[in-house]
Amino acid sequence: MTTPLVAVLMGSKSDAALMQECLDVLAKFGIEYEAHVMSAHRTPDKVREFAVSARDRGFEVIIAAAGGAAHLPGAVKAHTPLPVIGVPVPSSDLKGIDALYGIVQMPPGVPVAAVAVGSWGAHNAAYLAAEILALKHDDVRRAYDDYRSALASG
Ligand code: RP5
Repeated sequence: MTTPLVAVLMGSKSDAALMQECLDVLAKFGIEYEAHVMSAHRTPDKVREFAVSARDRGFEVIIAAAGGAAHLPGAVKAHTPLPVIGVPVPSSDLKGIDALYGIVQMPPGVPVAAVAVGSWGAHNAAYLAAEILALKHDDVRRAYDDYRSALASG
């Protein structure tokens, strides 16, 4: 069995309904993924273990979703050279503005690609992952090009 190309991580089970929208887009492109709940503050060792070995296991893109202080994408990025896409989850009283700032404001040199807050971001994280994978994987490129053609003709 081969390791999927995309890991979708989320900080809490409470993020799962939102991130299902991301998984659905990945599936639309035929992209295999693994999805896991792990938290930068509740299970930091699990986050580190996963991130440290992710590239050697065959993952090529990591999507990480979190709400509130939203350390998860940055904590993952600290341990991996893989591209990390961060999805700000609107789970706190600040409705994701906190998570957006926490994710997008990575200091220079260790980037996280921040997408929109909530549903738009959950979708776009998967589209961005597909675009990255399409550079190398012909099956993803075909599916992605078909999708863009359909957009243009719609
Ligand atoms: C973050 O805190 C999670 O990503 C979630 O969005 C938020 C709330 O988590 P729970 O208290 O619902 O587990 O860590």
